[in-house]
Amino acid sequence: MHIDRYERQYLIAVAAVLGLFFAALVSSALVFGVRLPQPEGYINPLTLNRTVFANPGMRNMGNGVYDVYIVARMWAFDAGSDEKDERGQDVLRVPVGSTVNFYLTSADVTHGFIVERHNANIEVLPGHVGRSSTRFNEVGTFHIQCHEYCGRGHQNMYIKIIVEPADGSAA
Ligand code: CUA
Repeated sequence: MHIDRYERQYLIAVAAVLGLFFAALVSSALVFGVRLPQPEGYINPLTLNRTVFANPGMRNMGNGVYDVYIVARMWAFDAGSDEKDERGQDVLRVPVGSTVNFYLTSADVTHGFIVERHNANIEVLPGHVGRSSTRFNEVGTFHIQCHEYCGRGHQNMYIKIIVEPADGSAA
């Protein structure tokens, strides 16, 4: 069978690139230990009121660590906060330097969860508990936004976390 010289070169180039991608995939898993994000646990979204998510909110775990339990539903995050912003969304407050463990689940459809300018990002599936931890080293107000399109009110689905100076004065 005759294969044109250029076609052969392209075939070789394609095979080389595919080989490179495959090697990168295998080495990321075996050498660098990269894993797909796994849910922290599973939960029945119909009976959330019988779980820890019946009482969402922030727990002070001591030593600058906070656990926050949040329920996502169309179209708000319920972080159990008494403080609301001007649009009625929950506001969380932590002192600067805190490490926050976010635990999330969804009561209805798939939602997203991303903390502005921090490495915390969860895809929130109904029936799954997602977990993401991040440290807040900078004073300021950061939005936490749903980043999975979840319907008509998706763009309004957010909460805020206010990182306050360690001395307790206003941010
Ligand atoms: Cu929830 Cu988009």
